[in-house]
Amino acid sequence: MGNGIAHIFAQYGFPVYLVDLHPEQLEKALLTISKNLDRQVQKGILSQDEKINALNHIHPVHNIKEGVRGADLIIEAATENENIKLQIFRELDEFALPAAILASNTSSISITRIAAVTKRPSQVIGMHFMNPVPLMKLVEVINGFSTAGFVTEKIVELSKQLGKIPCIVNDYPGFISNRILMPMINEAIISLQEGVASAEAIDTVMKLGMAHPMGPLELADFIGLDVCLAILKVLQEGFGNPKYAPATLLVNMVAAGNLGVKSGEGFYNYRNGRKP
Ligand SMILES: NC(=O)c1ccc[n+]([C@@H]2O[C@H](COP(=O)([O-])OP(=O)(O)OC[C@H]3O[C@@H](n4cnc5c(N)ncnc54)[C@H](O)[C@@H]3O)[C@@H](O)[C@H]2O)c1
Repeated sequence: MGNGIAHIFAQYGFPVYLVDLHPEQLEKALLTISKNLDRQVQKGILSQDEKINALNHIHPVHNIKEGVRGADLIIEAATENENIKLQIFRELDEFALPAAILASNTSSISITRIAAVTKRPSQVIGMHFMNPVPLMKLVEVINGFSTAGFVTEKIVELSKQLGKIPCIVNDYPGFISNRILMPMINEAIISLQEGVASAEAIDTVMKLGMAHPMGPLELADFIGLDVCLAILKVLQEGFGNPKYAPATLLVNMVAAGNLGVKSGEGFYNYRNGRKP
């Protein structure tokens, strides 16, 4: 998600400092961005010069302090784990400009709890991009309990400048997108686990019967099964309702390292990152 967010901001002329703990992730991100920009050039969306210009706007950086010190907006898109995000926001609060807005791309974790570890909770907001970022139009803008109105307005305006369509929602577990999507994905996994139908049949029913562009199991592979599991746990804990309990099959697959497209194997096998 981080590479997609960097891509779209750079494409629209914003200077971007891209930070990751792991240097190999930064290298991978730059390769992915370059490949995805090539695709836009092939489709006639961008010229070759615009591609080069976009790439020149992205500066990979290895430490947070250096990456954020001059930024007006910081978008965190690290692993979907509350403790990791809280620690990152403590550091962002310490190193970022006092007027900077701190946003999270979290799929489900409470913006209010994230904001509460900073000294600027009114400047903390959710800016939830969809995967793949350069293609998907929606930005779910999540107001935390303390988010100031002018911050929401700025993020809405900025989303429009990036060619996106923002939707404002309040801070409840899973917001709107994953509160509705994840129970559907979980039910598809439970159906597979119970032997109701094969993975292909489940996905075909939802594609042809409900006009979904992707079946729920293929979509789960694309999102990352570890991310799906983390979101379901947030829903289960946040609502205290057993209906969100993750399927045992999902728990086992994540424990086995079958994470979907990113690990090469999930509900389907992937060669070169694509479903054969
Ligand atoms: N995968 C999706 O389809 C999707 C869609 C929308 C939102 N999201 C959200 O975006 C975020 C990232 O998801 P992803 O699928 O890209 O995850 P990912 O696991 O593929 O990538 C997370 C990245 O964060 C880095 N990281 C971890 N701890 C860090 C730290 N302390 N400082 C700097 N970098 C750190 C990791 O090295 C890794 O490169 C999550 O909050 C997720 O819920 C994911």
